[in-house]
Amino acid sequence: MQITKYTFPIHGDDRGQLVAIEELRDIPFSIRRVYYMYSTVQGVTRGYHAHKSLEQILICVHGSCKIRLDDGMEKEEVLLDKPYEGLYVSNVVWREMFDFSPDAVLMVLASELYDEADYIRNYDQFLEFIHKEQIYTSGQT
Ligand code: TYD
Repeated sequence: MQITKYTFPIHGDDRGQLVAIEELRDIPFSIRRVYYMYSTVQGVTRGYHAHKSLEQILICVHGSCKIRLDDGMEKEEVLLDKPYEGLYVSNVVWREMFDFSPDAVLMVLASELYDEADYIRNYDQFLEFIHKEQIYTSGQT
């Protein structure tokens, strides 16, 4: 499966580093929501869901963590350990976040407001959703 990672420009000088991210310029969608996870308990895996339409950019702005992505056919693990790197996660991708370092802060830029109806929290339902989408797409002329 294709993994899209963005390397954002660093505006560094002798005072330190600064990263700016602009919607539709540095990332492919408009940002409607930002949230972040911190003080994640060691050994915890979060996520375990996909989204019907939400797109996201995941940035580990401090520390490190790993992301497991699954498009229903292939699984990939991605290490996030650079505050200037963003992992794009499209809709209809199952994601799990794990191996958080004690100091990890995982920030998420999201294309939509929080909407529980957009979540697919059951893996079998995720596979069913993909299957239905494929039938719909192959039925289109
Ligand atoms: P949850 O979806 O369980 O986190 P994840 O699946 O990414 O590990 O979210 C934890 C709680 O936070 C849950 O009660 C919903 C709430 N929440 C919001 O209110 N707004 C948000 O934008 C997000 C991502 C979660």
